[in-house]
Amino acid sequence: LIAAAFRHQFIIPEFQDFSKEIEEIYWKCKENDSGTVASYIPQLKRMSPNYWGVSIVTIDGQRYSIGDVNIPFTIQSCSKPLSYAIALDLLGADVVHTYVGQEPSGRNFNELILDHNKKPHNPMINAGAIIICSLLKTMYNPDMSSAEKFDFTLNYFERLAGGQDLGFNNAVFLSERECADRNYALGFYMREHKCFPENSKFRECMDFYFQTFEDDCHIHSDFDEIMDFYYQCCSLEANCEIVSVIAATLANGGICPISEEKVLKPESVRDVLSLMHSCGMYDYSGQFAFKVGLPAKSGVSGGMLVVVPNVMGMCLYSPPLDALGNSCRGVQFCEELVKKFNFHRY
Ligand code: DON
Repeated sequence: LIAAAFRHQFIIPEFQDFSKEIEEIYWKCKENDSGTVASYIPQLKRMSPNYWGVSIVTIDGQRYSIGDVNIPFTIQSCSKPLSYAIALDLLGADVVHTYVGQEPSGRNFNELILDHNKKPHNPMINAGAIIICSLLKTMYNPDMSSAEKFDFTLNYFERLAGGQDLGFNNAVFLSERECADRNYALGFYMREHKCFPENSKFRECMDFYFQTFEDDCHIHSDFDEIMDFYYQCCSLEANCEIVSVIAATLANGGICPISEEKVLKPESVRDVLSLMHSCGMYDYSGQFAFKVGLPAKSGVSGGMLVVVPNVMGMCLYSPPLDALGNSCRGVQFCEELVKKFNFHRY
């Protein structure tokens, strides 16, 4: 960082001027008081509609934050691209996409539908994310306990965040599980259609991986364990400062700009960003891709992970959501950002 500073070779050279523009957009969006805070569980309903934070980390480690950037929030669906990334990294795209598609569903994130191959449409909606959780559960060493599998995943998330600790909100986890009729329905519907990795099919895909294991190893995880793992990923807790580093790691092809650790393979990052671009913003994804042209993923707590590939990662956080479930201030911020800077991919 220091050497780059001396050479004036930053990816955003006039970072102070840039930050001032960001600050202006921040205050403009602060005035937006539309939307409603998610209320399906009490822990989310209690979040203040006034929270509004923006954190930015460039791929060469320059940082800017403004507003409520230290308020912890559960990452909810912002976990979906991350667990998808781990699955891609460990299993490869061919295996992962035997079980989940790459097509926007054009429907709600928790809609009870599968594509014409009887697979979930993509990993960014609930059905797809549950399948990704089952792949992760299934592929981990069968000797690992549930606790170890959770720790392994958490460790991956934390390395994406440059080694910063993520929290776990147990109250949110318990509430999610309590109010999860739709997710269980999705799980059963997918079990009916044999969407989950089964011993023989998975072993066929994974011969190279399983050759070291005993033949009779148990590789089909328990249904309830898979569902719990999905709620646990949604209940991981972080703040804007932390999530922006994760976004920057994605912007930087899988190498964390803060720790300089290579966490993900570039081809995994490419696939994750492609599907964030086409499917990351619920049923607003097409319009967001058109207007903003950046890969992003939103979550029901009001968090948004936004990537400007090869430039920077951002986390935007504000709980009031629009009718489609995206953070009102977050979406407005992105739309204002691309009016000022030519970050739109096209
Ligand atoms: O599964 C649920 O209902 C939520 N915990 C998922 C959260 C979310 O952000 C919706 N996203 N696609």
